[in-house]
Amino acid sequence: MYVLGIETSCDETAAAVVSSDGVVRSSLIYSQLTDHQDYGGVVPEIAARAHVEHLDGLVRDALAQADLALGDMDAIAATAGPGLIGGVLVGLVTGKALALASGKPLIAVNHLEGHALSARLFDDIEFPFLVLLVTGGHCQLVEALTLGQYRLLGTTIDDAVGEAFDKAARLMGFGYPGGPEIEAAARQGDPNRFPLPRPMSGRAGCDFSFSGLKTAVRRTVEQAGPMDGQAVKNLAAAFQSAVADVLADRTSNAMEIFTDRHAGPHRLVVAGGVAANQALATRLGGLAESQGFSLTVPPMELCTDNAAMIAWAGVERLEAGLTDDLEFPARARWPLDELPAPRATDVG
Ligand code: KG4
Ligand code: ZN
Repeated sequence: MYVLGIETSCDETAAAVVSSDGVVRSSLIYSQLTDHQDYGGVVPEIAARAHVEHLDGLVRDALAQADLALGDMDAIAATAGPGLIGGVLVGLVTGKALALASGKPLIAVNHLEGHALSARLFDDIEFPFLVLLVTGGHCQLVEALTLGQYRLLGTTIDDAVGEAFDKAARLMGFGYPGGPEIEAAARQGDPNRFPLPRPMSGRAGCDFSFSGLKTAVRRTVEQAGPMDGQAVKNLAAAFQSAVADVLADRTSNAMEIFTDRHAGPHRLVVAGGVAANQALATRLGGLAESQGFSLTVPPMELCTDNAAMIAWAGVERLEAGLTDDLEFPARARWPLDELPAPRATDVG
């Protein structure tokens, strides 16, 4: 079976063809980075227009690269949310049109489920598993019970972790997106030169908070005055180290809950754009080892936004008999624990 995937929820326009045996036949991404760079962040109207301009061509090229035609697809999977509503609409409407034209079923994919399932595309991972979902818009700890069934253990009460990277990067004088630039600078920095807080650390539960950390970075920059290159690297390292500590602290609580609820073997999947950060992965790897969890981090191209993960979520849903009708609405907000699932089995 083949599924065409479409992703347009943020600032990446993407199309991919994935087969049911987990082979990515093609995965194309048009990054709108330069379209938004002058604004220091994603501008929703510009994003929506860029999706309109590029999506058709990407779909055509993704099919051509896969050496397949639209008629060879078994379903069309498109992100239906959550995300910037203009972009989501462009992708979903395109998916609906292709489904209608080809007579193949539409699968409306939740972008967060796409991230959560991305690990199953390249590795043999059984449900249930624990997911740390770290993107530009979300920071969540989730029990993935089975396809479509997710239990939220904790979420951010203010900024998402990728957003914190982007805002801190801006304060340090880096461009957008800030995560990769902070990671590169931090490699040559001393994390102990600037003391930064670890919001929520040591507290019960699995919720996150990053706005205090961002404020502390701002105050540090203001107090330091003009910073030389090495000072900026030290601040980047201090910030990344604080984020790593917070993620590890919160994830450790989630691991305790997960271990109480589920027999082993236990697995932690780190998904989303921030999972591309090697230093964070190393830190979480150490935590996983100490808690008896195995750690899976998808390869970089599957961590950041892409359509292969959407096509793969489509494969899993198609195999479970879960397709959607053409009335399915685009959703700016669509929490992971509100998804259509095969049946209400009690697997928790
Ligand atoms: O999942 P993603 O591609 O898009 C969303 O769904 O949000 O995540 C984008 C986020 C951005 O905030 C970006 O700064 C962050 O992921 N990011 C990183 C790294 N690469 C991307 N953050 C930290 N370190 C990285 N290497
Ligand atoms: Zn994403």
